Order: sequence, then structure tokens, then C-alpha cells
Amino acid sequence: MQILLSSIINHNRKYTKEGEVATYIPELSKADKNHLGIYVVTLDGEEYGEGDYNVKFTMQSISKVVTLMLALLDNGPEKVFEKIDMEPTADTFNSISSLETRNPQKPLNPMINSGAIATTSLIYGESSEKKIERILKFTRRITGNKDININYDVFKSEKETGHRNRALAYYMKSTGVIDGDVEDILDAYFMQCSMEVTCKDIARIAAMLANNGLLPWSGERIIPAHYARIVKTIMVTCGMYDESGEFAVKVGIPGKSGVGGGILAAVPNRMGIGVFGPALNKKGNSIAGLKVLEELSRELDLSIF
Ligand code: DON
Repeated sequence: MQILLSSIINHNRKYTKEGEVATYIPELSKADKNHLGIYVVTLDGEEYGEGDYNVKFTMQSISKVVTLMLALLDNGPEKVFEKIDMEPTADTFNSISSLETRNPQKPLNPMINSGAIATTSLIYGESSEKKIERILKFTRRITGNKDININYDVFKSEKETGHRNRALAYYMKSTGVIDGDVEDILDAYFMQCSMEVTCKDIARIAAMLANNGLLPWSGERIIPAHYARIVKTIMVTCGMYDESGEFAVKVGIPGKSGVGGGILAAVPNRMGIGVFGPALNKKGNSIAGLKVLEELSRELDLSIF
């Protein structure tokens, strides 16, 4: 495995030259586009890292997987999916149009920004501080990494410039999708996106999902098996936004990307994978990260289809 990962990182380094790091959150423009790393956690307890797997990056949209799990634990699936739909979209991750034209009372899914902000609003905690405390605690428990924290520079940068998310959130307040203080909910959302992790952390979250809700290394149950199934299914249909179809064909693994350059991929009953490469394509997904996952899936026959 180590030799395979090393050769995959070497083959695909050339793709780090393509695409651009995210700039719409100004702080993210400081990322080094040459980085490329992978970490694999198998369900029988083996772990392998290659390339820049120790470099920290912010979770961004990968955090939506964590908050969906927590919202499900807090409210149960019925209440969550009464507020947020589970349908894929061909629009971009921060699209405004589908929110108005499809169903103003129901964002399309928990992986696009509108649905994710609504999901965060459902997490228990009377203030953004309380919510983010619980989100951090939950993330640390899954990863076993007590040092996971918020990158406050990234948080401030997004808070200052996140007008599109602000528009989505105020629109959802007007249509009754979200209750409570909009700015406070946005603070929690911006903070969850600014949680700083490595490939290892996201590979561990993926391994728990691959293992049907149990931590493979300790046997501790994090979520019920049927919640893990819900989350993985939504990752397949919506996790890579308007590139979810192509990702299903070429990689075939439940995955979730973030504009920090990370991709979390959970191979049911086999392994959790975390990849990182900050240069993105137009759809907000890591170009080199996608290539790495494509080659690994082909080599190990990982597609679930
Ligand atoms: O809300 C945003 O726009 C960012 N904090 C997260 C978006 C994101 O990661 C989309 N993923 N590829």
C-alpha cells in the first residue's frame, strides 16, 4: 500500500499546476498550490500517509458531513429531512436560484451551502459558541485528535466576505427554513468551515463512516449504522456538488470535498481516505485530489458500483 500511494502521489503531482486555490475567501488564497497528500485508514487497523499528509488545511464543506451527523443525532432523520431535502443539484454549491425556484421552504440537500446552513441551525446549542463547542468536541472524538481547532484568520476572512451565504441565510429566514438569529447561525457555520485538519483527520472520519458508524480502532459507536448509511448515500449523490455524477463514474466512492482542497472518501467496509491538494477546478473540487482518488480507486477496485 505504501509503495502504491507513493507512486500515485508522484504520478499526479503534475496536476497540482492546474486550477487555482480558492480566492473568494481571501485567507484561502495564501495556500500553496504545490501541496498534495493522502492518508488511508483501513478497517483492519492499518494507516498509511504519503506526500503532504501532515499539512493543515481548513475543512470548509467537508465539515457539512460532521454537522449532518450531529444534526441527525440531535433531531433524528425525520425532523432533519422535513427541513432539508435529499436531492442532488446541477447548480453550484452556493447557488441562490434553486432555493427560490424549486422550493423556497426546503433547500435541496445538506451538502450545498443553503442546506448546510439550515443543518447547522438545527444543531442543539442556544448560541454559536455552544454549537461550535459541540461540533468541535464531536470532531475531536471521531478523529481522536484533541488539537483540532478553529483557524480564526480563515473564520474572520469568511465572516467579512461571506455575503452570498448571508443572502442565502436571510432568504431562508424569510421563508421559515431557519429560526433564530441569522448572524449567530452564520458564525457557527463559518467556524465549522474553519476547523483546521490534516488528511489523517478526515481519513479517520471517513473510516468511521466506512465502518458503519463505529470507530475501527476502538469499536466505539459514534452514530447508528443507518445514520452512516444516510450520510454516505447523500455524499454519493451530492457530496461533490455538480460534479457528483462524474465522481461516481470515475471514482465510485462516497466523497465530500471542501474549497480548502480536502476530499474525504469513505469506502464502505474497506477504508477511509483523506486527500489534500488546494488547487481547485471551476466546481470547487481539488483537481489533483480527484486524480489521486481516481487512480487509487482503479488500482484497488474501490468503486461501490
Ligand atoms: O461557505 C462556503 O462557501 C465555504 N465556507 C465552504 C464551501 C466549500 O467548501 C465548497 N466545496 N467545495
